[in-house]
Amino acid sequence: MSEFSELRYLCGSLVAVLLASILLTRGWRSKHRHLPGPPPKFLVGNLKDLPTGGHEWDQYAKMSELYGSDVLYMTALGTGLLVINSFEAAHDLLDKRGSVYSDRPRLVMIKELMKWDWNLILMSYGKNFTTYRRVVQQEFQPSTVAELYRPIMATEVIALLDRLLRSPEDLIQHFRLMAGAIIMMVTYGHKVDSVDDKYVALAEAVREYSAQRPGTELVDVFPILKYLPSWFPGAGFQKYAAIGKKLSIQMRSAPFKMIKDRLASGTASPSLASRLLHQSVDTGGIDQDQFAQNTCAVVYSAGADTTLAAMINFILAMTLYPEVQERAQRELDDVVGRDRLPNFSDKGRLPYVSNVVKETLRWKAVAPLGVPHATVSDDVYRDGYVPKGTTVIANISAMLHDPSVYSDPDTFSPDRFSPTDQKSEGEPDPARAAFGFGRRICPGRFFAEDSLWLAVASLLHVFAITNPDGRGGNGVKGIRWSSGLVSLPSPFPYKLEPRFSKAPELVSAAERT
Ligand code: HEM
Repeated sequence: MSEFSELRYLCGSLVAVLLASILLTRGWRSKHRHLPGPPPKFLVGNLKDLPTGGHEWDQYAKMSELYGSDVLYMTALGTGLLVINSFEAAHDLLDKRGSVYSDRPRLVMIKELMKWDWNLILMSYGKNFTTYRRVVQQEFQPSTVAELYRPIMATEVIALLDRLLRSPEDLIQHFRLMAGAIIMMVTYGHKVDSVDDKYVALAEAVREYSAQRPGTELVDVFPILKYLPSWFPGAGFQKYAAIGKKLSIQMRSAPFKMIKDRLASGTASPSLASRLLHQSVDTGGIDQDQFAQNTCAVVYSAGADTTLAAMINFILAMTLYPEVQERAQRELDDVVGRDRLPNFSDKGRLPYVSNVVKETLRWKAVAPLGVPHATVSDDVYRDGYVPKGTTVIANISAMLHDPSVYSDPDTFSPDRFSPTDQKSEGEPDPARAAFGFGRRICPGRFFAEDSLWLAVASLLHVFAITNPDGRGGNGVKGIRWSSGLVSLPSPFPYKLEPRFSKAPELVSAAERT
């Protein structure tokens, strides 16, 4: 028997045992009234109804229309799944009932086998979560971002502009480097000058390794498989998990050792790590070194790819909507002029540029299905029963494309946020959904918004961003956004050239100061 067929046999038996126990303990149809959704099938529930094949957020939105409900309830092999497709329902449940809806699903592969349970993003709701969360939130509050992190962003955005002037064709690599360099300086006080930097390379290796097997593993569906030894036919996932675990340990410990050595020799620059090690921090009984190490590592794992995705979506939008770009550049010329680069003190006088940033976050959600929440106890919503342990997906993309909230939602239109006669405050700021909800809302949101703002304003000031196929090109036809927590677009044509003859000089001058 091949390894694959042995595993299938094993899983077949497991399914039989599991289903028998579900049937015996619950019956295949729950006696409770649930929220609308596709009717569950005998034995497998809604397994076949779950979207696959990409753009799952659009498929859930269509399902929501089909069943005439913004909340959908399904089951798959005994686990409940609640999909929330409107901001109102997300606010009702994830914001207002945070004590019930703030857990994370079990995730056997990544949390239990690869041992990523140190990571705040995946951590179960409880005492450790609260301790880590409080510190991360404090370290990324608006005043700390403005005082400590904005100068770092400014330096790295100028370095980005310089690299782009030299090799615009390496745009993605330069964006990745900028996002990584800002985070490495913020967390470890470590200056990154190239993609070959050993700590960035390590973090990237972890990211790439995890991306090899996105989605749910069999062991997540049948947790009992986690006890199979790695030599057992079909248990190849154990080897994958073991390597992933090793990489994750290295990614956390290598930069941490570097910062400890620098602190010991008195050569460390101020950073999140140095503050966590030198100040008295309430770690809730967790070893201080472990606490600092885990807190720093989570920032890279949560911050690098998200910022990157937003910046790529921005470039794509500029190639498709030249009139938006020209208007933002006119505003920059009026307010900043052509003798210097924009900086944070210009922000209040550049409302259109700020709206371009908002629209970038709305037009293509960086995390279209957010990070799944889970319920810690039974609940009832609109007369529908939601059992304890239900996985809860917030369809952020659907909320940001809700036609009853955003007119013509597929069009990139920064003007939608400006007040009109009908809507005195304009359409809602996408930040209310783009960064998630309730007690798990993204603690890096102020940091993310600031770094994006400066990068967008600076890119618009220095470069003309065009589509080599002509104005507007072919629209988004043929472009696919990847599945997974962070969604990146497939490659698209673009061209970057200095917008005016003196632009490169402004960048060199800024680098010297
Ligand atoms: C455009 C950039 C970003 C977007 C769109 C984004 C979005 C999100 C979303 C949707 C979540 C899940 C929230 C939920 O479960 O309801 C999240 C969680 C998180 N984000 Fe961000 N994020 C961004 C940048 C960042 C940055 C730069 C950092 C770090 C400085 C960061 C740190 C985190 C952390 C630590 C969590 C986990 C919070 C928890 O589980 O309690 N994010 N983010």
